[in-house]
Amino acid sequence: MIKKCLFPAAGYGTRFLPATKAMPKEMLPIMAKPLIQYGVEEAVEAGMDIMAIITGRGKRAIEDHFDVSFELEHQIYGTPKEYLLHEIRDLINKCTFTYTRQIEMKGLGDAIYKGRVLIGDEPFAVLLADDLCTNEEGEGILAQMVKVYNKYRCSIVAVQEVPMDQVDKYGVVAGKSIDTDLIMVDTMVEKPDPKEAPSNLAIIGRYILTPDIFDLIKETKPGKGGEIQITDALMAQAKKGMVMAYKFKGRRFDCGSIDGFVEATNYFYEHSKRNDEKEKKQK
Ligand code: UTP
Repeated sequence: MIKKCLFPAAGYGTRFLPATKAMPKEMLPIMAKPLIQYGVEEAVEAGMDIMAIITGRGKRAIEDHFDVSFELEHQIYGTPKEYLLHEIRDLINKCTFTYTRQIEMKGLGDAIYKGRVLIGDEPFAVLLADDLCTNEEGEGILAQMVKVYNKYRCSIVAVQEVPMDQVDKYGVVAGKSIDTDLIMVDTMVEKPDPKEAPSNLAIIGRYILTPDIFDLIKETKPGKGGEIQITDALMAQAKKGMVMAYKFKGRRFDCGSIDGFVEATNYFYEHSKRNDEKEKKQK
């Protein structure tokens, strides 16, 4: 059983300055809900109940969000607004939240390594909250990945096809097709030049990792951009054993970029309007 989900949330979010000067990127809302809450809900749906969050300076709002707010709750208790906090209260009751800080932003690999003390020696999920994922047709992306993990018992990365001219924004994988939606990874390159990319299969912000990844990250030298890249550690893991890439069902919005954020807002707004209309008709 995978019980723990790690949320690297220490990055500066420079693409959203000045909004992220004093506010964590992960707290940006789509409709009235912050990105990180969508992430925690996805992890809970996948059966996880320990949320391990990697924070940094200026990220305290995340901890406050997953805590009670006595004054506010007292104020709205018994009023028609009380229901607005039900969802988050329910989430807080279901989960345990643990935190540690990444002191220097040395990259995603380093942020994940900082989580070692919170995770211990067990397989775990990693969720980047600025990649907002949804699947209208069925279960969420992490829940789908847990099923794949239960079958193959190895690290799994979620991938999606992206236009070739965008591969240089992602870690890109290639390998042997095992099934229509599954690839056994033999190549993994961080932000390749489109001319040299091994495919257009881009890794998005969902991983399931086996705990041997920690020692591999420890041995990983800074790579692209001088950062410790999780893709380099995963490549080492693929060489030693097995790493799978999973083409998930559903949609993903890159909410770390303005375009993706606006797209997600429009999508969730339309979706909620459709649901409201459906409910009205049923009444
Ligand atoms: P990004 O590169 O998208 O995030 O990292 P960023 O650096 O915050 O954003 P920009 O590019 O400056 O706008 C992907 C994820 O990894 C985390 C980020 O918080 C984000 O969730 N991360 C990245 C860390 O926690 N630590 C790091 O050193 C780097």
